[in-house]
Amino acid sequence: MRFQVTTGKPGKQRCNVAVVPVFAEGKLGITGKAIDALTGKILSKVIKGGDISGKTGELLLLTEVGEFPATRILLVGCGEKDAFDRNEYRKAVQSSCATLNNKSYTDALFYLAADGIKNAGAYRAARILAETWYLQSYSFALPGKRKTAVATVKTLAIHTDSEHSKAAKQGFHDGSGIGIGMNLARDLGNTPANYCTPTYLVKQARALAKSCKQLTTQVLNEADMKKLGMGSLLSVTAGSAEPAKFIIMQYQGAAKTKNPVVLVGKGITFDTGGISLKPPPAMDEMKYDMCGAASAFGAMRAAIEIGLKTNLVVLIPTCENMPSGTATKPGDVVTSMSGQTIEILNTDAEGRLILCDALTYAKRFKPAALIDIATLTGAVVVALGKHRMGMMANSDKLAAALFEAGNDADDLAWRLPLDQAYNELLKSNFADMANIGGRDAGTITAGCFLGRYTEGVEWAHLDIAGVAYNGGTTSKGATGRPVQLLVEYLLQQ
Ligand code: BES
Ligand code: MN
Ligand code: ZN
Repeated sequence: MRFQVTTGKPGKQRCNVAVVPVFAEGKLGITGKAIDALTGKILSKVIKGGDISGKTGELLLLTEVGEFPATRILLVGCGEKDAFDRNEYRKAVQSSCATLNNKSYTDALFYLAADGIKNAGAYRAARILAETWYLQSYSFALPGKRKTAVATVKTLAIHTDSEHSKAAKQGFHDGSGIGIGMNLARDLGNTPANYCTPTYLVKQARALAKSCKQLTTQVLNEADMKKLGMGSLLSVTAGSAEPAKFIIMQYQGAAKTKNPVVLVGKGITFDTGGISLKPPPAMDEMKYDMCGAASAFGAMRAAIEIGLKTNLVVLIPTCENMPSGTATKPGDVVTSMSGQTIEILNTDAEGRLILCDALTYAKRFKPAALIDIATLTGAVVVALGKHRMGMMANSDKLAAALFEAGNDADDLAWRLPLDQAYNELLKSNFADMANIGGRDAGTITAGCFLGRYTEGVEWAHLDIAGVAYNGGTTSKGATGRPVQLLVEYLLQQ
């Protein structure tokens, strides 16, 4: 895919499709007016004729455009001119990309940002266009099967004034990396659990390392984990026939001496609940229980594409959670790598059990920041729905940075508290802590549990159970979130 920036008088650029905004009540912006004049008022005519009103996302394709340098014009509704912000722009770009993908066009030139966007400059505008392009061009295929090609367009251009062309180029660069990273996260999330096993994730990590000199990958097997004392992680895999893995990916984008950001992604490739078995409805969606791992993979892929100038470590504890004769039983007590003992009262609270050992392991990298990403609790979906992810942290600075990164990237988070009073709900009569805290505040008690393994490190936890995928029957699939937030945070370091 090629991305280009055009400048100069709008409408003078040659292209296959010119994408032009029409605002509410059929109003044209400065760009639209210029193009209208160049085409002998074709735009005014169709607007007067009522063929397009300017509602956000509305589309009208004009194929007879006279001597105009573009072969076709795609008019795109952009809503109220005064309310044209990043969200409206993104919707307009989404619907444009979707129709461009269905036709046999070779290149498109976007004028949608040329009149300005309320809360976005040229950098954001180009970045959103590139990101959206990749997201809209996504299709799924099983590993080893060919994907159906969705995209025919080979070149996308954005029009901006010459002083902002450098920023737009940077936006395309970062947006492409993020889009590619998100699509990797979606692929891993969507791949069914009979393909996407811990061993499959190992293969993916090795492939990623092969593509990039700055990346090294190391994999621990169950014997290695046993030696390290990861009794908590190993208790989750006890019932599974698939071997557990612990993946370590190290990307060096800055001096060796610089402390890395460490991402830990929950990689439960299927969560049956274990002996505390889940009910059948929607259990298929538990193939998505490795979406935390998928987003960490996606962030790493984006870092490589972008050529990120920071050090990044990704840790993936990965296994299945299955019931069987060798599975862990409710009431069992296990010893984590930190030495703390855990009474497993519910084997379905398994995410925290693999994460706690990974968080302990993470300390050896002396992280500048330690961030875990996990589809950890159903409770976060009740609290925040599918819009914002839950965020918990032991550091106000890190929490603020992630919150801002989410806002900037339109990948929203909301902080929840980790008060001592919630922490006390994890009391156990037989171990240092129980793995569940009862019915109340389930997302927070899960965060408190993880907090017990992150002392002395700036740490944040993202509970993405609500945002990582869409369930139900239509448009089911992994979203690629929160790759945008993670990469935004990394870019701002
Ligand atoms: N993977 C689930 C959380 C989940 C639920 C993700 C729904 C996406 C949608 C997690 O392992 C789990 O089962 N959590 C339990 C915790 C409970 C037993 C304390 C839950 O949320 O019910
Ligand atoms: Mn579970
Ligand atoms: Zn789970």
